[in-house]
Amino acid sequence: MEMPSNRFTILYFTFIFFLFGFIVNIANGHESPEKISILGTTDPKPLQFSSNSSFKIALFADLHYGENAWTDWGPQQDVNSNRVMSTVLDLEKPDFVVYLGDLVTANNLAIPNASLYWDMAISPTRTRGIPWASLFGNHDDMAFEWPIEWFTASGIPQIRCPSISSCSVSGDEACSFRGTQRVELMNKEIQQNNGSYSINGPQNLWPGVSNYVLQVSSSSDSKSAVALLYFLDSGGGSYPEVISTAQARWFQNISQELNPQSMLPEIIFWHIPNAAYKSVAPKSTIQQPCVGSINLEAVAAQQSENGIMDFLVNRTSVKAVFVGHNHGLDWCCPYSKLWLCFARHTGYGGYGTWARGARILEMTEQPFSLKSWIRMEDGSLHSEVVLSS
Ligand SMILES: *[C@@H]1O[C@H](CO)[C@@H](O)[C@H](O)[C@H]1NC(C)=O
Ligand SMILES: *[C@@H]1O[C@H](CO)[C@@H](O)[C@H](O)[C@H]1NC(C)=O
Ligand SMILES: *[C@@H]1O[C@H](CO)[C@@H](O)[C@H](O)[C@H]1NC(C)=O
Ligand SMILES: *[C@@H]1O[C@H](CO)[C@@H](O)[C@H](O)[C@H]1NC(C)=O
Ligand SMILES: *[C@@H]1O[C@H](CO)[C@@H](O)[C@H](O)[C@H]1NC(C)=O
Repeated sequence: MEMPSNRFTILYFTFIFFLFGFIVNIANGHESPEKISILGTTDPKPLQFSSNSSFKIALFADLHYGENAWTDWGPQQDVNSNRVMSTVLDLEKPDFVVYLGDLVTANNLAIPNASLYWDMAISPTRTRGIPWASLFGNHDDMAFEWPIEWFTASGIPQIRCPSISSCSVSGDEACSFRGTQRVELMNKEIQQNNGSYSINGPQNLWPGVSNYVLQVSSSSDSKSAVALLYFLDSGGGSYPEVISTAQARWFQNISQELNPQSMLPEIIFWHIPNAAYKSVAPKSTIQQPCVGSINLEAVAAQQSENGIMDFLVNRTSVKAVFVGHNHGLDWCCPYSKLWLCFARHTGYGGYGTWARGARILEMTEQPFSLKSWIRMEDGSLHSEVVLSS
């Protein structure tokens, strides 16, 4: 069987899958979108400040598990990434971890199940009993894309063909490799892990899936919110790299509902930087007011702007946005009244050989403050910056 190079075939197939998922979910009678998009205060496991009034988050960005599994090199990168995360977790002892997208390089996975590698990526956090949440990057749901000529007959990855008999596309042409879909990856993570705080966001925002809000509660009262964490799916992989108008509207709606007076500080996470990052990017060396240690490539921004920045800028409560995607950037720069920050490339997978590390955030409760720094694999610290005081 030939690997289809036809773009239309792949798009068509993707569409069928979304349609199918949509029908299944309707059939299951899902809750209203607003309900499933918030982890409410009645949740049995609130995220909460510790009694000494701090809450620390580690950001693991661009781990890219599962590269070149057919060589010795690939699996060794995953071992190295495990080591980076373990070092950071043991030195920092965070209360929470955010997986900031590109956990796996699905286009490099010659198996139809990226969940297996996704599971490896979350395992250092899980084994330490630390809770986490994840969001999608542009590589997580990609279809396997290497030329079939690279494989021996016995090593050819499984090829999927549509089973819907009513469709008129002829069998062979409609077949393709298929990535593990965002909803499948997220469902597996949630179902198999009680430490996962990830949520499949409202269906009216699909194909963007990782759109949800988590509340961090006061040490003295688990019902009393101190800060809100917003997670957005910046696309890529099976659909364009964008935060859509619908997502921007969703943010506006939900932030207004949860935090109408903008009294609670808000922190935003997604994977792919947007045009605002380009506008503040240091020209060469990183100089005040920006803070960071590497500025070694151009910002690779989303494909279009659809309004999210206007809503963020208009809320005085939004303190900072954190993204990954660019492995050669780790700065924070002010933009209007908030900060735009890159994480730090954590994984050994993905391009670039810059030393690995993780951006750490530390909030205090009373009074609220938000500080950040980068913890490197060798244990060193740099780029400390106060983002809100
Ligand atoms: C809070 O306690 C943790 C460990 O229990 C410690 O690492 C951290 O420095 C403390 N933070 C503050 C603000 O005292
Ligand atoms: C994919 O991997 C998960 C484990 O992460 C497993 O539960 C699931 O059954 C696998 N699915 C397939 C189709 O192999
Ligand atoms: C998750 O389950 C394990 C064992 O099944 C348990 O030890 C642990 O306390 C649970 N964690 C949470 C956050 O509920
Ligand atoms: C936002 O709220 C308006 C008014 O309630 C509603 O019509 C719209 O569908 C909501 N949009 C999203 C994306 O949730
Ligand atoms: C942001 O605020 C300005 C000034 O109050 C207003 O003109 C603009 O429409 C607002 N934009 C959005 C997206 O709410």
